[in-house]
Amino acid sequence: MGKRIGIGLLGLGTVGSGVAKIIQNPNGRNPLVKQVELVRVAVRDLNRPRSVSIPTSILTQDPQSVIDDPSVELVVEVMGGLEPARSLILRAISAGKSVVTANKAVIARHGEEIATAANSAGVYVLIEAAVGGGIPIIEPLKQSLGGNKIKKVSGIINGTTNYILTKMAKEGAAYIDVIKDAQNLGYAEADPEADVEGFDAADKIAILSGLAFGGPIERDKIPTEGISNLLSRDIDYAKELGYEVKLLAVAEKFQTNQTEGKAIPLAVWVRPTLVPSEHPLAGVSGVNNAILVEGDPIGEVMFYGPGAGAGPTASAVVADILNIAGISAIGNSKNKLDPLLAGSSWRNCQLEESRKFIQKNYLRLKTQDTPGVIGKIGSVFGDHGVSIQSIVQFDSQENDAEIVVITHEVSQGQFVDSLEKIKGLSEVKGLAAQMACI
Ligand code: NAP
Ligand code: HSE
Repeated sequence: MGKRIGIGLLGLGTVGSGVAKIIQNPNGRNPLVKQVELVRVAVRDLNRPRSVSIPTSILTQDPQSVIDDPSVELVVEVMGGLEPARSLILRAISAGKSVVTANKAVIARHGEEIATAANSAGVYVLIEAAVGGGIPIIEPLKQSLGGNKIKKVSGIINGTTNYILTKMAKEGAAYIDVIKDAQNLGYAEADPEADVEGFDAADKIAILSGLAFGGPIERDKIPTEGISNLLSRDIDYAKELGYEVKLLAVAEKFQTNQTEGKAIPLAVWVRPTLVPSEHPLAGVSGVNNAILVEGDPIGEVMFYGPGAGAGPTASAVVADILNIAGISAIGNSKNKLDPLLAGSSWRNCQLEESRKFIQKNYLRLKTQDTPGVIGKIGSVFGDHGVSIQSIVQFDSQENDAEIVVITHEVSQGQFVDSLEKIKGLSEVKGLAAQMACI
């Protein structure tokens, strides 16, 4: 039997409890699991009932004391939030301890600071659980796909919203009723606004983009729109037109003549999106996530599986713990990091402005039900070089009509300008809904 590794666990909620259960039940798993021992566990409330039994002697409300404990060799941060999580991760690094974290909010905003500190301290910060729950996607991007030039990473990377959208589409459920289920199932963030407003997906696509394209991007500049304004009506119309509605996150190399040595331009966005029913992402339902990676020479690969919840996320956290345990088992000395596992940045990336993004669009307009309305809308789009794929009038009530338009691919600048003109037409009562379309 090799050397035992003392784990300091920060957080014993949904994910932390899942991790503790795996460590406490090593039989039938990789033998390295037996070498891992929970030696300290930090929680906020010592009296809260737990789904896992932890000796009270190792529980504490003081997370710093966990990091400072000499028997803790590896710190596992699954408490969430920006602070004190960021400071605790940096404290662990300063103490020469590797860190495993599921905290996408911290990594998306402070990943560079943390990676720089970890590299100079000669320790690892591993983040497999931060994106896609149980789906292995971080290590594949860092290691298995390293020989590719990545063109695009896109997918469904928030389990809560995919669960809500699936229930809305299949059962006609109201969004507000479904969100409670997602919270009870342990899918939602502590503040579920992060899920439904698309912020969690934006954190995750920022992380994936950094790994896929080799350099960090400014998280706060990612155009982000969630599902809180989405109505079942638009999901139904989309279905009639042959589409499913999904919250998509996309990071794509911008098609431009790239100058050697200049930052690589990227289009990165999060939006509710119409996905054709036959597309591989259309069938991804419930809490499942899927990430499509397009690279040269591999072509297209899809990573699919449960995107949130205790068991799947703990599976990813423990995978990272075992990576550190494996390195420790071969006695690798500190300050000699495996560059693939460390996953350092190697070039600069920059976000392209959203007016230049090339996208298809879905929109629903409320208009008067008078002759010639569709013609006028079509003319404005035509004048702005926006080509229409389909334009359909749905049920009209009294004097009102609902006109649904899907455009062909067009620059968002042209589309937005034409939409402003359309909103000004006397027959148009307002823009009722707008989404991306692929
Ligand atoms: P959670 O259920 O709310 O658990 C958070 C845990 O941290 C609780 O045990 C809480 O203690 C403890 N905690 C919070 N602040 C603390 C503080 N200042 N000092 C000591 N303990 C503190 O959250 P979760 O769902 O497990 O998520 C944890 C992290 O994993 C988050 O970063 C989240 O984004 C990420 N993640 C979650 C999922 C998922 O499916 N849930 C999936 C992937 C990633 P008490 O129990 O005493 O309140
Ligand atoms: N709240 C997140 C989700 C957890 O629903 O996807 C997994 O990161």
